[in-house]
Amino acid sequence: MKIIRTQKDLQLWRENLPKNISLGFVPTMGALHRGHLSLIKRAQEENDKVIVSIFVNPTQFTQKEDLEKYPRKEEQDIDLIKKYSPIDALYLPSVDEVYPQDKLETTDENEIDLQGLDRILEGKSRPGHFAGVAQVVSYFFDLIQPTCAYFGEKDFQQVAVIRRLIEYKNYPIQLRVCPIIRETNGLAMSSRNERLSSNARQEAGWIYELLIRVKEMIESGISIPEIHSEVLSVCKNHPTFTLDYFIIVDDKTLEEVHDINIENSYQICIAVWVENVRLIDTLHIPKK
Ligand code: PAJ
Repeated sequence: MKIIRTQKDLQLWRENLPKNISLGFVPTMGALHRGHLSLIKRAQEENDKVIVSIFVNPTQFTQKEDLEKYPRKEEQDIDLIKKYSPIDALYLPSVDEVYPQDKLETTDENEIDLQGLDRILEGKSRPGHFAGVAQVVSYFFDLIQPTCAYFGEKDFQQVAVIRRLIEYKNYPIQLRVCPIIRETNGLAMSSRNERLSSNARQEAGWIYELLIRVKEMIESGISIPEIHSEVLSVCKNHPTFTLDYFIIVDDKTLEEVHDINIENSYQICIAVWVENVRLIDTLHIPKK
């Protein structure tokens, strides 16, 4: 596994790959867990070569504290990849390498028109977040030029943003979306889970239970206002958790829905705060 730290070496590595091979790319921010490894495994199954990036991208953090506290485990991550899914290359750039001369701001010329996708749901709670994600992912796509790029459904809205980025920049890249990997209590795996106390981490299983309950309610024709009041009453049973948002959206437009039509497909999205950590989860409702 080649460890690459500079843009120049990355370009060299890419240029020296044989033409006509397929290259899978998995962008991450490290502190790798089984969710990340599942993306890497899938990339390996579907491509001749695989490259993974680990980069804690400052432009997508809206809170300084979240950026500072984001777990960084370079050595452990390298060992994990070597042990479970040795890949061809691992790109580990520094902040200066990605954003020379402290160009941490997104500017008009590199701004990507996300068509409002960045202002709803997660974007509403974290202004600037998706502009930062699009900025760094397009930096990676330009350099790596992958055949396929792998993203998790866990960050459902991020997938929509990347789909838009690919369309906007006309990248010849196939987007592959992978299922959510969960801890045994149902909590969606996330690098941020490590910041929780063991009690909170255990209790957080209620979030997924609630999503399953909501899915059942939708399927049995219960109205959206009734679902919302059920959600609020479940949240009251977990007073250390604060609901940021709970929303049911059309899975294509990401617009909030107020009536369910069984011929449509939806996505239930939730974000909660606990112990100063923000947890998100999501569940797909396929059409009947
Ligand atoms: P990060 O949070 O490290 O996630 C990297 C990829 O792993 C994302 O596509 C995410 O959706 C996926 N992932 C995270 N938890 C998962 C889980 N429990 N099951 C399956 N997949 C999971 O998302 C980012 O980094 C960044 O925004 C990035 C795209 C790297 C840009 O900086």
